[in-house]
Amino acid sequence: MRHFLTLADYTKDEILEILDLAKQIKDETKRKEFKEYMPKQTLGMIFEKSSTRTRVSFETGIYQLGGVGLFLSSNDIQLGRGEPMSDTSRVISRMVDMVMIRTFEQSKLEEFAKYSKVPVINGLTNEYHPVQLMADYLTIQEAGLEENLVVAYIGDGNNMAHSWLNMAAKLGFELRIATPKGYEVDVDILLNAQEMAKKSGAKIIIGNDPLEAVKGSTVVTTDTWVSMGQEEEKERRVKDFDGYIVDEEMMSQADEKAIFLHCLPAYRGYEVSEEVIESEKSLVFQEAENRLHAQKGVMVWLDRQRNV
Ligand code: CP
Ligand code: NVA
Repeated sequence: MRHFLTLADYTKDEILEILDLAKQIKDETKRKEFKEYMPKQTLGMIFEKSSTRTRVSFETGIYQLGGVGLFLSSNDIQLGRGEPMSDTSRVISRMVDMVMIRTFEQSKLEEFAKYSKVPVINGLTNEYHPVQLMADYLTIQEAGLEENLVVAYIGDGNNMAHSWLNMAAKLGFELRIATPKGYEVDVDILLNAQEMAKKSGAKIIIGNDPLEAVKGSTVVTTDTWVSMGQEEEKERRVKDFDGYIVDEEMMSQADEKAIFLHCLPAYRGYEVSEEVIESEKSLVFQEAENRLHAQKGVMVWLDRQRNV
């Protein structure tokens, strides 16, 4: 049985296999062929943080696969009143067939997975957001930009930056990350990605100059400067991220065929300008839709792994 906790646990071939499955299921879905790959299965969805896309994509996804999703906000279940993760896991995983969790520390997710009888999916932690990266890469494939891919990630060295690091390291593309000083990616995650990159041939460049990072890139991406749980740091962060907005001037440094991606929610006037997010280069809503298809790919793949 496999879990989906971080892309670092997956091989290049496995990631591409899940993406192929997601593409196949997307085509079927577009033709309104809702094949019941997971009949009568229940997906438990535990949320300790807010969500629009992750909740809707997983809940709609499991329903279209023939199952049902259970939305379990930590405010409403005993986890929020102090029931341990290990107990929550042992109880819920005896009743459902798969679990998706959005939580704070990756260690909490790992604790749940350790005690779970069923596959567990990371729906975002402080450290990673791997299901988002599956949708992002699917969007890159659809845009025909896989060859000679150069991704520029501008902004906070957060869960999105870390998942980009893992994806680049696994698939072997060039990733340039530009963050303000003091907001760099986690050193251990970076070292691990650099180690994995030796095998794949990925080029990982870390710096503090956004214009330099964007120059000639084929994908420009960013994320909020204030992640969930950091609300109290907003004022300081907005000051520290001055100069990191992805605006038209910055986009003009990228390759002429470059696209703009953002996991959303986006804060216009902060990490991205209104003009860029609403421009033709911006594929953010295709990317958001791809959450549904990518999530279905991940769930069906994990379900098939039970019997391997
Ligand atoms: N991108 C993303 O995960 O969005 P939500 O927080 O709305 O789920
Ligand atoms: N980095 C953001 C991503 C939201 C989808 C956060 O963790 O809040």
